Formats: sequence, C-alpha cells, structure tokens
Amino acid sequence: MRRQDRQGILPARETGRAFPAASAEDSSVERFHEQTRQAMVKARWAVFGLAGAVALAGTGVIAAAIGPFGSETIAQPILFPHDLHAGTNQIPCEYCHYSVDRSVDAGIPAVQVCAGCHIAGGQALFRRDSTGIKQLVAYWNEQKPIPWVRIHSLPDHAHFPHMRHIKADVQCEECHGDLKTAREVTVQQKLWMGWCIQCHRDKQVRTDCSVCHY
Ligand code: HEC
Ligand code: HEC
Ligand code: HEC
Ligand code: HEC
Ligand code: HEC
Repeated sequence: MRRQDRQGILPARETGRAFPAASAEDSSVERFHEQTRQAMVKARWAVFGLAGAVALAGTGVIAAAIGPFGSETIAQPILFPHDLHAGTNQIPCEYCHYSVDRSVDAGIPAVQVCAGCHIAGGQALFRRDSTGIKQLVAYWNEQKPIPWVRIHSLPDHAHFPHMRHIKADVQCEECHGDLKTAREVTVQQKLWMGWCIQCHRDKQVRTDCSVCHY
C-alpha cells in the first residue's frame, strides 16, 4: 500500500499543544492498562479500516475520503518560512533545532536565535516591511517568547528519542517531509505505532514494548 494511503486513516494525534509541551511522564500502571484497552478497540477498528483501504486502493475512493496529503496546517503566531531558511539560505536544521542530535527533543529556537540574524540595535536588518519581521521585532522589543504551537505530539507513554535516530543516520525528511521546499510545517506522517514498528522491523531495530513504552 502506498504511504499516502496508509497515513491519514487513523485520526490525527492531539496537536495544537503549546510549547513547552507538558512532558510529565505518566507512570500510572492503571492508566496504561486503561489505555491498552482503548487501544485494543482502536486497533481492531484500524485493522478493519486498513483492510477496507486495501480493497478500495486504486479506486480513488480512499484518496477522496482522507483528503489531500499533508494538508493539515496549524496557525502559528508568525508564519515562519522553512523553505527560505533551510532551503534558499541553507541554514542547517540543527542551527535552530539545536538539541536534535543529543536529546529526546529537537528543540525550538528562542527569539534570541531569530534576533541574532534579523535584529540589530532593536532594528530589523532586512525585509523590515514584511509582516513576519514586524511581528518578530515586536516580540523582541517586548522581550516575550514567541508562542509557537506544537504540531507533532506523541502521547506521554510513548518515548521517541530524536538523538538515537539522528545518530543512526535517519534523515529528518523521512519523518517530516522536505522542509527545504515547504513553506509551512505540516504533519507528513501520522505518528502511530504501526509506522514506528514498520521502520524498526525494516532496519532491524528492537521492537519489544519496553523500547518505546515505559
Ligand atoms: C532558522 C530556524 C529554523 C531552521 C533552520 C529550521 N527550523 Fe524547523 N522550526 C523553526 C521554528 C521557529 C519552528 C516553529 C514554527 C513552525 O512550526 O512553523 C519550527 C518547526 C519545525 C517542526 C515542527 C515542530 C512541531 O511543532 O512539531 C519541524 C518538524 C521542523 N521544524 C523541522 C525542521 C527541519 C527538518 C529543518 C531542516 C530542513 C528545519 N526545521 C530548519 C525554526 C527552524
Ligand atoms: C541564520 C540566520 C537566520 C536565523 C537564525 C533566522 N532567520 Fe529568518 N531569515 C533569514 C534570511 C537570510 C531570510 C531571507 C531574507 C531575504 O531573502 O531577503 C529570512 C527570512 C525570514 C522571514 C521572511 C520575511 C518575508 O519576506 O516575509 C521571516 C518571517 C523570518 N525570517 C523569521 C524568522 C524567525 C521567526 C526566526 C527565528 C525562529 C528566524 N527568522 C531566524 C535568516 C535567518
Ligand atoms: C524517525 C522519525 C523522525 C526523524 C528522523 C526526525 N524526527 Fe522530528 N519528530 C518525530 C516525532 C515522532 C516527533 C514527535 C515527538 C514527541 O511528541 O515526543 C518529532 C518532533 C519534532 C519536533 C517538535 C519539537 C521537539 O522538540 O521535539 C521538531 C522541531 C523536530 N521533530 C525536528 C526534527 C529535525 C530537525 C530532524 C532532523 C535533524 C528530525 N526532527 C528528525 C520524528 C522524527
Ligand atoms: C517502536 C516503538 C513502539 C514499540 C516497539 C511499541 N509501541 Fe506501542 N505505541 C508507540 C507509539 C508511538 C504509540 C502512540 C501512537 C499510537 O497510539 O499509535 C503507541 C501506542 C500504544 C498503545 C495505545 C495507547 C493509547 O493511548 O491509545 C498501546 C496500548 C501500546 N502502544 C502498546 C504496545 C505494546 C503492548 C507493545 C509491544 C508488543 C508496543 N506498544 C510496542 C510506539 C511503540
Ligand atoms: C524511518 C525509520 C524509523 C522510524 C519511522 C522510527 N524509528 Fe525508532 N529507530 C530507528 C533506528 C534506525 C534506530 C536506531 C537504533 C540504534 O541506535 O542503533 C531507532 C531507535 C529507536 C529507539 C531506541 C532503541 C533502543 O534500542 O534503545 C526508540 C525508543 C525508538 N527508535 C522509538 C521510535 C518511535 C516511538 C517511533 C515512532 C514515533 C520511531 N522510533 C520511528 C528507525 C526508525
């Protein structure tokens, strides 16, 4: 089955959480069991859904039902253009997502990082008439953090260490799409368990439950 068909069948994970995301680890065994039960129901439904998708693949029915690939955009306080930064100006992802190769979280740049390139002495350096830069200068002058809205978000019981993937040479694009050409970040890949496990199997990485669940 094509990747496009597979993703999108399951509902989107909760998104729109503000940064910094609540990362309180849920250690309650009861809660995990309750979630397990819910998941079993969901899993059966998903298997059924997948079978249906296979049957309908190629008819165009599914494609129409799940809508265009990667169409979910989330309104951000500033429309931050990834293509201009990571593409046109070739700024490495790690310049802004500073902890991606050494921490669980990739990290979101502070307004100081933006200001380092865009602002000198309280004045914008270039494109000062653009809406985005005016907004940036306002946050900077008020010394307020930019309230970026979180797009990707796993449930608390699942553990995703960025650094392990980066060290194993898995490219950002494989999971996030090509942000050198995309203006806005969209969810390219629904973050469901089957997707994680599929790649782990392909690359012969461990798939026992405790790898991803505490
Ligand atoms: C100049 C800084 C900068 C660079 C360079 C940059 N990003 Fe970002 N990135 C941001 C900011 C700011 C956000 C939050 C706003 C947004 O989501 O659009 C973000 C958001 C993201 C998100 C979504 C995070 C979430 O909320 O789930 C992903 C994924 C991402 N970037 C990946 C990349 C990749 C991959 C590259 C390199 C190809 C890259 N970024 C380069 C600044 C940057
Ligand atoms: C390493 C330098 C660098 C960093 C860091 C950086 N930018 Fe940029 N930014 C640029 C360059 C270069 C351009 C393109 C300017 C041009 O083409 O004239 C740009 C363009 C933009 C634009 C587009 C303006 C327009 O034309 O509409 C916005 C908005 C923007 N940046 C916001 C941000 C924000 C917000 C951050 C921090 C998350 C940030 N930038 C971090 C260098 C940087
Ligand atoms: C194997 C898949 C995968 C790869 C490779 C990957 N990511 Fe992610 N990324 C994720 C997942 C899954 C999440 C959600 C994590 C969560 O909610 O705990 C995420 C979340 C993010 C976020 C949200 C904020 C945060 O701090 O976690 C950013 C930013 C991000 N990724 C950037 C990157 C960049 C930049 C790269 C490459 C250097 C990269 N990612 C490589 C899967 C991946
Ligand atoms: C490679 C990582 C990985 C492995 C291995 C893994 N899981 Fe998961 N699991 C996830 C992720 C990510 C999620 C959250 C996304 C979702 O619900 O599909 C999840 C979700 C779940 C849920 C759903 C909870 C809810 O909120 O709906 C249950 C239950 C679960 N996993 C049990 C297991 C069991 C049992 C095993 C071992 C047989 C296992 N997982 C192995 C990554 C993994
Ligand atoms: C595109 C392939 C790919 C995807 C998708 C992927 N992983 Fe992985 N994962 C890997 C590779 C490769 C490693 C590296 C193992 C190593 O360090 O040798 C890894 C390692 C891990 C580890 C550390 C394993 C250990 O032995 O301690 C965890 C935890 C993990 N992944 C969780 C996840 C979760 C959760 C998801 C889904 C949200 C996910 N991964 C999606 C390829 C992937």
